[in-house]
Amino acid sequence: MDKLIIEGGHPLKGEVNISGAKNSAVAILPAAILAGETCTIKNLPDIKDVSNIIDILIQLGARVEREGHDKLIVNSNNIDTYKVDFELSKKLRASYYFIGALLGRFKKAEVPFPGGCDIGVRPIDQHIKGFEALGAKITIEHGIIRAEADKLVGASIFLDVVSVGATINIMLAACMAKGTTTIENAAKEPYIVDTANFLNALGANIKGAGTDEIKIKGVERLGGCEHAIIPDQMEAGTYMIAAAASKGNVLVKNIIPTHLDSISAKMKEMGVEIIENGDSLRVIANGRPKAANIKTMPYPGFPTDLQQPMSVLLSVADGTAIINESIYDGRFKHVDELKKMGAKINVEGRIAVIEGVPKLSGAPVCATDLRAGAAMVVAGLSAEGETIISNLAHIERGYERLERKLLELGAKIKRVSEED
Ligand code: EPZ
Repeated sequence: MDKLIIEGGHPLKGEVNISGAKNSAVAILPAAILAGETCTIKNLPDIKDVSNIIDILIQLGARVEREGHDKLIVNSNNIDTYKVDFELSKKLRASYYFIGALLGRFKKAEVPFPGGCDIGVRPIDQHIKGFEALGAKITIEHGIIRAEADKLVGASIFLDVVSVGATINIMLAACMAKGTTTIENAAKEPYIVDTANFLNALGANIKGAGTDEIKIKGVERLGGCEHAIIPDQMEAGTYMIAAAASKGNVLVKNIIPTHLDSISAKMKEMGVEIIENGDSLRVIANGRPKAANIKTMPYPGFPTDLQQPMSVLLSVADGTAIINESIYDGRFKHVDELKKMGAKINVEGRIAVIEGVPKLSGAPVCATDLRAGAAMVVAGLSAEGETIISNLAHIERGYERLERKLLELGAKIKRVSEED
């Protein structure tokens, strides 16, 4: 069990290149099952969640070939089963995308319940509602979701909650259905647009991705394509927050600035300088940040995936801030760890009240999930003294080459194994 040791108080300086988006990659790789020809997927992040999805593709019988660390060639012609392995499925949340993809391709899917971060209740009722509207019969037994249909027919589906996963899963199942499907109250996250662009490059007919109404006109067959994954909004946001929390000056490169508008706006409100320039933006700390309130919302609102890293910046801000976590009911597990570092935070249900303190102090802490792990790294960079972070497996699920990127920014960070 490796640990990260961070000596805080060293401002991050320099440039960081952002990798491909995890939440796009883990949707687009299963979508390659729908392709009748070879797909080349580029700018894939080299992270655990991606390698777990690739393991499932291989288990299903797909042929995959890696070229370098961020390019994958996938041919799904030889897939010979619609049953996903139990152990592989529970390693991450996005394994649920194999339901939509296998149902879309074979009109059959057997996928065990997904795993993923323990950040509150995470039902899949909207996914099931969508599949049933398309004509599939869904049964759940022994922890396995079975979906089956003689044929899939386009339908109008109104999502009761704005769900990234349900929007994408319905798109996967509907793109080769008979007739037209409309998803209303759809999620608008950039990964939905990226997945729709991938499917359209295969020959699908999807309109309106990125808006709250998506129209999918079913086609007979899909071909192959070459597709580059968009930059990771959450990785970029994490480095922006780390730059400010360490009192640094960092150029965050290879990003799509509009994807970061809500984060940039909030950090500017806190007094941090943000300078956009083409596909990069510079973050310059400007003394002690000012407190600001946050309410997490679906895109383009403030993303819940940056709530935990942002709570660290707020814990050293001047003043009192309120975080309203409107998406998940269990995404404050990192707060007890931050309190070990001297943070003053009170949590009541989905509300956290943060009274800023002048500085945090280093301590042994634990990553309780992916973004909580990122928050611990940001806290360690900001704190006085040494922070030791355990449970790194959570962080490796979603951040490519984190230590190396931070070392290149001048952080004092090292990985030690239990034996050391
Ligand atoms: C995606 O999860 C992301 N994961 C999450 O990122 C992210 O937090 C979330 O979207 C919201 O932005 C991936 O893309 C793999 P949702 P997803 O369905 O699709 C409720 C990270 O850190 N809901 O948009 O699972 C649900 O409980 C991860 O990278 C239902 O009630 O999220 C939640 O409160 C963590 N019924 C809300 O909707 C459903 O059928 C949003 O969930 C589906 C969702």
